[in-house]
Amino acid sequence: MGRPKITVVGAGNVGATCAHWAAARGLADVVLVDVVEGMPQGKALDLMQARPIFGFNVEVVGANDYEATKGSKVVIITAGIPRKPGMSREDLINTNKNIVATVTKEVVAKSPNTFIIVVANPLDAMCYVAYKVSGFPRRRVMGMAGILDTARFRCFIAMELKVAVEEIQAMVLGGHGDDMVPVVSATNISGVPLTSLLSKKRIDALVERTRKGGGEIVALLKTGSAFYAPAAAAVQMAEAILMDQKRLVPVSAYLTGEYGLQDLYFGVPVILGAGGIEKIIPLKLSQKEEAMLQKSAAAVAKTRDDLQM
Ligand code: NAI
Ligand code: 2OP
Repeated sequence: MGRPKITVVGAGNVGATCAHWAAARGLADVVLVDVVEGMPQGKALDLMQARPIFGFNVEVVGANDYEATKGSKVVIITAGIPRKPGMSREDLINTNKNIVATVTKEVVAKSPNTFIIVVANPLDAMCYVAYKVSGFPRRRVMGMAGILDTARFRCFIAMELKVAVEEIQAMVLGGHGDDMVPVVSATNISGVPLTSLLSKKRIDALVERTRKGGGEIVALLKTGSAFYAPAAAAVQMAEAILMDQKRLVPVSAYLTGEYGLQDLYFGVPVILGAGGIEKIIPLKLSQKEEAMLQKSAAAVAKTRDDLQM
């Protein structure tokens, strides 16, 4: 049987950090693939050399082709270009569409039973590309965004209230864009509603900071976008599948009528386990949240249409 294998395509900031988190947790053997010669091999060897220090035993290999990815249980697609200051995630569409389509064909040929977790932006549209190109059932193709966006919201609330982050329950739904929907009505601190601890003005400010959370980091870094928290979120999804954790988390999933939406990848709460997306969970929203969700869906549908596929 041996250990399960995770392939991470794109060994840049997010991909290499995925390999780092996954290996350090001893989750699976990791194959890092990138088009840049030597770079994935070098990063893999470097991670292997960290094993005696931190005491993990999984193997990490780097490659410029897909031979070593054969039989992967999970594939995380981070290949693509990231945003530069002033760019929206949507500006990346044409370049990343071609990259994600090529990569999907390659991974599917070697791992026909794998689960695909897309990270490349514009996220919901790139999930659509991977879904169409792979021909997989929808439970095996999903996107990472909601866990990251929710983690940002939880982090900002914890910083504001000076409360431990793990006490904060929240959910950010919708597309991974500036119209995403932090669901305030579902946000509580160990059962205490957020609305009873903070003024509307402060909550609105935290919601706005969450929606612009990716851009805030792009503006600071100047040469790329966030990668520590995005990689942690992608690895949490891989872990939920590998360990059959049945986590209830927001994930970009292909909708066939849920939330009133059709033929669209969109961030919704799901149960994530050994079957991939095992169930899509309905959530009662306030009237205002529902309107925000529909606005976000319209933006995501436009980007999907721009794909012309
Ligand atoms: P990066 O530029 O550091 O790494 C991307 C890597 O992909 C590069 O090493 C590049 O050589 C490689 N690559 C390009 N074409 C390839 C191909 N055909 N096959 C294999 N590798 C290929 O970028 P970073 O920061 O790692 O971001 C990657 C993507 O993830 C971007 O599109 C970014 O916008 C997105 N992202 C999405 C997030 C989300 O929440 N969904 C969060 C953070 C980043
Ligand atoms: C983020 O949210 C850029 O999508 C990336 O950090």
